[in-house]
Amino acid sequence: MVDLGGLHARLRPELDRAMDEVLATSGFIRGQQVEAFEKELCATLKLSGQAVGCGNGTDALALALRALDVGPGDEVIVPDFSFISTAEVVMEVGATPVFADIHPETFQLDPISAEAARSSRTKAVMVVHLFGQCAPMDELLPWAEEHGLHLVEDNAQSLGAQWCGERHQGDAGMMGIVGTTSFFPSKNLGALGDGGAVLTKDDQLAERVRRLANHGAVKKYHHLELGVNSRLDGLQAAFLRVKLKHWSDLIARRRSAADGYDRLIEAQLNIQPMPMALPMRDPKSSHTFHQYCLRLPTGTDRKRLQAQLLEAGIPTAVYYPTPLSAQPAFGSEAKVVEHGTPHAHDAAERILALPMHTELTDAMQTRVVDKLFGLLRST
Ligand SMILES: Cc1ncc(COP(=O)(O)O)c(C=O)c1O
Repeated sequence: MVDLGGLHARLRPELDRAMDEVLATSGFIRGQQVEAFEKELCATLKLSGQAVGCGNGTDALALALRALDVGPGDEVIVPDFSFISTAEVVMEVGATPVFADIHPETFQLDPISAEAARSSRTKAVMVVHLFGQCAPMDELLPWAEEHGLHLVEDNAQSLGAQWCGERHQGDAGMMGIVGTTSFFPSKNLGALGDGGAVLTKDDQLAERVRRLANHGAVKKYHHLELGVNSRLDGLQAAFLRVKLKHWSDLIARRRSAADGYDRLIEAQLNIQPMPMALPMRDPKSSHTFHQYCLRLPTGTDRKRLQAQLLEAGIPTAVYYPTPLSAQPAFGSEAKVVEHGTPHAHDAAERILALPMHTELTDAMQTRVVDKLFGLLRST
């Protein structure tokens, strides 16, 4: 699904130099590399605010909620179709996740369902910018503001995407009160281990996050509140600085791969139409293609299809096979919007992600699409 080996082989001399620099200075925890990375991240992506490095994208979400004082007694609206972290952290801070449905084609949080999930206890909404493009911020931002809700952007998958709507324009992760991201190795900006960041325009909030992530301390051995140990380490920051230098190229490669898939799949559908949906591109959002997800025709035996593709050496993946509300981990602690989340359930049944990374070639993509359609036609 990803070719980190290929990417890192290309960048190897620069990554080696970064490692040497860190070894020479022993700046392993926070320090110079982290400070420089936080600044360069905002400058390179033209993010108008601060980035605070931390241990991973899940911690970034929990830190954001804690910095906003979301806790026991509060409800937080969460899309029912996301990685578990988005909802897990709501429980971690003692609040209750309330699952809302998604748009059937973009897979983003549906503002109408979000409104139906709102109650007098709602304190925040987790807006996930899924798969590389933005959730509908023209609707979600004014709605959250009208009801006094903290809008937290889970931007683990869409760093660098921009919203360009009629009512709002901005960078994914920097439009609400606070956003987060993940530097998990397979992410568009991936470290060589775990890493994450909290993004915000609010300097006071940034300082609170910094403190919470460092045992509640601003000064060594002087703890103003209970925090956690969640720090981006110097080595990861140094590697991330290398990748940042290649940021435009990394995203251009993903976009070109997505265009390639679109062309190849449309050509196949012209030969023989079938009810298969390409990833919907919201005209109001740019797309950084963290994932390229198709919706298979209803009734396709997805497991069998995946096994047959794998036999031919073609990996695929399902993001996500189960809506969050159906995860046993939440038990009876979480709530679901009154009319349920049918679109999240449909997406979980039909979605299929094709290999998407910076090292894909035209030949690889042609092989993936030819084999996929060969199998779909033979069943
Ligand atoms: C939408 C979303 N949120 C949060 C996370 C958590 O990030 P991390 O794995 O760095 O904790 C991920 C990572 O997969 C994600 O995709």
